[in-house]
Amino acid sequence: MAVRDIILYPDPILKTVCDAVETLDDSVKALIQDLVDTMVDAGHSVGVAAPQIGVTRRVVVVDVSKSKLGRDNNHGQLVMVNPAILEKEGCSTMREGCMSVPDYTGNVSRAERVVVQFLDREGVEKVIQASGFEAVAIQHELDHLDGFLFLDRVSSLKTDVFRRKK
Ligand code: NI
Repeated sequence: MAVRDIILYPDPILKTVCDAVETLDDSVKALIQDLVDTMVDAGHSVGVAAPQIGVTRRVVVVDVSKSKLGRDNNHGQLVMVNPAILEKEGCSTMREGCMSVPDYTGNVSRAERVVVQFLDREGVEKVIQASGFEAVAIQHELDHLDGFLFLDRVSSLKTDVFRRKK
């Protein structure tokens, strides 16, 4: 169990294009566990990507099952190694937050449904279709692996980004 510190914007690690995982060795297993522990410890978090804890490898965890927006439509806790979006469909706009950008939220338009391929924590290849809030969370986390934050996805920094109320 290791809850890790979250790297905050504008740290350049968050702009890094992360490296694919070659083998699911002990270092990757430890990374996965740290991501899960960090997400669970944050309480309200629905996902964390490896670069957010300072590791530039293509691993994310997503779990919207305990959130109001995602609890009726989800795959539970998802561990995704080398994830890739195979198909996208539709478009919806939602307010997003990010543990690396704690003081702001933003309106972001993303695909409403995605088909995503990845290796699970045992290294088994999976393909799932996600929709709604889970699809948004997956797209948000996968963006982190290519160095993108929600701030890079808003139409306008002036009108689509909002300071959180304390
Ligand atoms: Ni984020």
